[in-house]
Amino acid sequence: MSTRPVALVTGASAGIGEAIARRLAADGHDLVVVARSADRLAVLAKDLEAEHGGDVEVLVADLTDGEQLARVEARLGDPDRPIDLLVNNAGYGTVGTFVEMPADREENEIALNVVALMRLTHAALGPMKERKRGAILNVSSLAGQQPTPGMATYGATKAFVTSFTMAVREEVRGSGIRITVLAPGFTNTEFQARAGVDEIGVPGILLQSPDEVAKAGLDALTKDNAIVVSGWLNWAAATATKVVPTSVVRRVTSLVMKRSKVT
Ligand SMILES: NC(=O)c1ccc[n+]([C@@H]2O[C@H](COP(=O)([O-])OP(=O)(O)OC[C@H]3O[C@@H](n4cnc5c(N)ncnc54)[C@H](OP(=O)(O)O)[C@@H]3O)[C@@H](O)[C@H]2O)c1
Repeated sequence: MSTRPVALVTGASAGIGEAIARRLAADGHDLVVVARSADRLAVLAKDLEAEHGGDVEVLVADLTDGEQLARVEARLGDPDRPIDLLVNNAGYGTVGTFVEMPADREENEIALNVVALMRLTHAALGPMKERKRGAILNVSSLAGQQPTPGMATYGATKAFVTSFTMAVREEVRGSGIRITVLAPGFTNTEFQARAGVDEIGVPGILLQSPDEVAKAGLDALTKDNAIVVSGWLNWAAATATKVVPTSVVRRVTSLVMKRSKVT
C-alpha cells in the first residue's frame, strides 16, 4: 500500500484545479480527482501516473447532485483510505444583471460554490480531527471581498466561502489541521467562457495563469496562512476594499463588470 499523502481535488479536470492537481502529484501526493468530465479526468490521471508514478483515482461526480455529492463525502470518510488534503476548488460564476438571469442557474451556483463546499469540508474534517492532522484549501475569489454588481450571486457565494472557511479555521486552531482560503483574481481558465463572457473588462496584466494561482494557494497552505490573494495587484485591490468606503468599492466593481462583454 502506498505511503504517499493523498489529496482529493474537486474541479480537477480544468483550470486552477488541474494546476493544483499537477503540482500536488509532482510534490509526491497520490490523488483523487473529482469533476463531471470522465474523459478529461481519465487523461489527467494517466498523464500524472506516467509522469510522477503515484496513484490517481478518478471520481466522476456532479457536485450539485445530492447522490453524487454523497459519494464524494463517503470517499472523504472512508477510514481505510484516509484523505490528507482536501481542495474544494470546483465552482462557476454567472455574469449579468441578477433579475435577467434564470433563477435555477443561480440556485445551482449556490449548490456548487456553497453547499457542496460546506458538505465536503464537513465530511473531511471529522476524520482529520480523529487523526489530528490534515489540510483543507477552499477556493474563494477576489469577488468575495465586496458586493459584486454584475455577479451578485457569485460574489455572495465567495463571501460565504471566505467567511465560513476563516471561522472553521479558528474552530480547529491547535488541532493539527490547517485550513486556508485561496482568493484568486482574474485567472486565464475556462471560467470566463463558462460564464458567457467574451471579453473581460480588465487589462491583461491582471490576468494570472492557473499555475501561478495554484502555487500561491499551496504555498499559503504550507505556511498555514489564513488567506492568500494571488498576485500583488489583486492583493492591492483587496487591500483597497478594506480602506475605501464601501459605496465607492461597489461603484468601481460595477464599472469593471460593465466593461466585460457577455455573449
Ligand atoms: N478563473 C477566474 O478568473 C477565477 C477567479 C477567482 C476565483 N475562481 C474560482 O476558481 C475555481 C476554479 O475555477 P477555474 O477558473 O479553474 O474554472 P474552470 O476552468 O471553469 O474549471 C472549473 C472546474 O470545476 C468543475 N466543475 C464545474 N461544475 C461542476 C460540478 N457541477 N460538479 C463537479 N465539478 C464541477 C469543472 O469540471 P467539469 O466541467 O468536468 O465538471 C472544472 O474542473 C472556482 O471555484 C472559481 O470560482 C476563478
